[in-house]
Amino acid sequence: MRSMCEDVASIVGFAMGDQSNGEVLVVAVRPEYERKGIGKSLLIHVQEWLFSEQHDEIWLLANPDPHVRATGFYRKLGWQATGTFMGNNEVLKLGKGKNPIANTPTDWAATFSTSASEQDQ
Ligand SMILES: CC(C)(COP(=O)(O)OP(=O)(O)OC[C@H]1O[C@@H](n2cnc3c(N)ncnc32)[C@H](O)[C@@H]1OP(=O)(O)O)[C@@H](O)C(=O)NCCC(=O)NCCS
Repeated sequence: MRSMCEDVASIVGFAMGDQSNGEVLVVAVRPEYERKGIGKSLLIHVQEWLFSEQHDEIWLLANPDPHVRATGFYRKLGWQATGTFMGNNEVLKLGKGKNPIANTPTDWAATFSTSASEQDQ
């Protein structure tokens, strides 16, 4: 599944998950749109979708460097480090119902669009 957030004219962020293994593949927001809650909304959108696809625990790979913005982002949103690495990236996990952040819709939620590739169907 792909989840995108658009302003009037363009896509400003997107997220993707893999329903086959419960992995959040990517969350990305254009730099000029960071720190507005878009990344959080996109991540929660993909998380909820993966949990609804019968995954009780979902995972992602993240750079463990604390100076990388995404590292603090995922930790802030309740993801737990596992100490397991794949290459240079650490596996982070999130259990169903363990997300301390309520799924509170933002103004951006109204502009979300979701699409599934043929592979997802
Ligand atoms: C990581 C990224 C997706 C965050 O998107 P964003 O829209 O700026 O994040 P948000 O504004 O939704 O932030 C959500 C929360 O995380 C917090 N947060 C973000 N970065 C943080 C950090 N480094 N440390 C602690 N908290 C952080 C925010 O303060 C916010 O908290 P709040 O809900 O209490 O206000 C974005 O910076 C990005 O696209 N980075 C480049 C691509 C990337 O690295 N993606 C991840 C790997 S695939």
